[in-house]
Amino acid sequence: MLAAADSPAPEWLVVPDDPNDLVAAVWPSSADRDDDGALVLAGARATTLVQTFGTPLLVIDEDEVRGRAREFRLAFEQAAADNGTTAQVYYAGKAFLCTTVARWVVDEGLRVDVCTGGELEIALAAGVAPASIGFHGNNKSVTELERAVEVGVGTIIVDSAIEIERLAAITARTDAVQRVLVRVISGVHAETHDFLATAHEDQKFGFPLDEAERAVARIREIPGLEFAGLHCHIGSQIFGVAGFRESAERVLELHAALLADGPVPQLNLGGGFGIAYTRVDDPTPIRTLAAEIVSAVAAGCAARGIDVPSLSFEPGRAIVGTAGVTLYEVGTTKDVQLDSGVVRRYVSVDGGMSDNARTALYGAQFSARLASRTGVGDPQLSRVVGKHCESGDIVVDHEYLPSDLAPGDLLAVPATGAYCASLASNYNLVPRPPVVSVRDGRAQVIVRGESIADLLARDAGIDSQAASGEH
Ligand code: LLP
Repeated sequence: MLAAADSPAPEWLVVPDDPNDLVAAVWPSSADRDDDGALVLAGARATTLVQTFGTPLLVIDEDEVRGRAREFRLAFEQAAADNGTTAQVYYAGKAFLCTTVARWVVDEGLRVDVCTGGELEIALAAGVAPASIGFHGNNKSVTELERAVEVGVGTIIVDSAIEIERLAAITARTDAVQRVLVRVISGVHAETHDFLATAHEDQKFGFPLDEAERAVARIREIPGLEFAGLHCHIGSQIFGVAGFRESAERVLELHAALLADGPVPQLNLGGGFGIAYTRVDDPTPIRTLAAEIVSAVAAGCAARGIDVPSLSFEPGRAIVGTAGVTLYEVGTTKDVQLDSGVVRRYVSVDGGMSDNARTALYGAQFSARLASRTGVGDPQLSRVVGKHCESGDIVVDHEYLPSDLAPGDLLAVPATGAYCASLASNYNLVPRPPVVSVRDGRAQVIVRGESIADLLARDAGIDSQAASGEH
């Protein structure tokens, strides 16, 4: 028996009784195995999906996205009503945006948060009402701002003094009145990866609390701008409510001070609600989160003798994360004998950091399971790696997989619905995989996969007709 310190597996990774099990929190609730042991998602067999669409393949369970969107909206609306106010939920499109997903979430009563001109155009192409779009970003260009004002985006979340002047000029030219929120840094350092925490002082987003008052005063002077309130987002993949509570408390102090010079009807507390990527992750249920965060805001308002503002939230990951499962084909396996004597099996799949950069970028943890069948071998410590030319190209750092896993098997990586397709690249000129949605046993392409011809088409040194084979 190895001492824990010598084990190549992290302490949290337990040897599963059954390396084919599907841990409920990590998979869409429709995930199951059929009589042959193959993974089934929303009634669609993984093997059939792969025969039709190939690998790698990102599968999104429509009912899971809709269900989570509905659950968020109902939870925050209820919590708001219980505290004498209203709440709106924006879906943070950066997690994964395409027109189909935008339509699902709008259908479930959500609004949409975008943070670039590209995301804005996808939301508009989906038919999202401009008035229900929130537009973020620390460096929105004049062109992006002009477009947002022109189409009538509901709220622009301003991030800098320069942006305020850009909007002043645009609204003066066009005679528009644009509603804005001011993004502030609450100084709360969320307990998450440094790159995912956004409300500590030394980073690029928003105004420090002590500078925000001046920014708001300036906005209130500009006839084309309507100040609606403050915005604060403390980070991402956050478990628990302590960070949200503390941040709300600090932002409310400024919110209350701003009431002295005019109305402050809203408060937007951002997104960041964590999901389970492995069996040990234990996110707080949405209803509890909503109830505790909203009642903390209400208590803060009561203590200051002010009305509870209308509240907004911007979940991204928690809406689409667990709805997504990536299917890969195993290409090669390699057993590496470690110094401790333990064997780590490297399982190479036909994608990698180009379709899931999270492990390489943030040291994120994922899970994996055989998808084409159930394995019969004992649990084997494994590392799922991609096909890219660098050793950091890891998809799943630590997992126990059946020891009989072999080339040709399908492997499923759950919880890849958020920040995988949206962060995908063409590194090593690997085409980005398609995204299909599944519901009631039926599958539909919602984002087409790239072909080699797509890649060649961007290379200005290639005769485009020769590249596409049209002579
Ligand atoms: N609102 C604002 C202003 C944000 O910046 C973000 C995320 C969200 C809402 C949504 O956060 P969520 O609920 O999805 O955690 N690529 C990283 C995450 C970056 C998050 C950026 N901002 C990852 O893969 O973990």
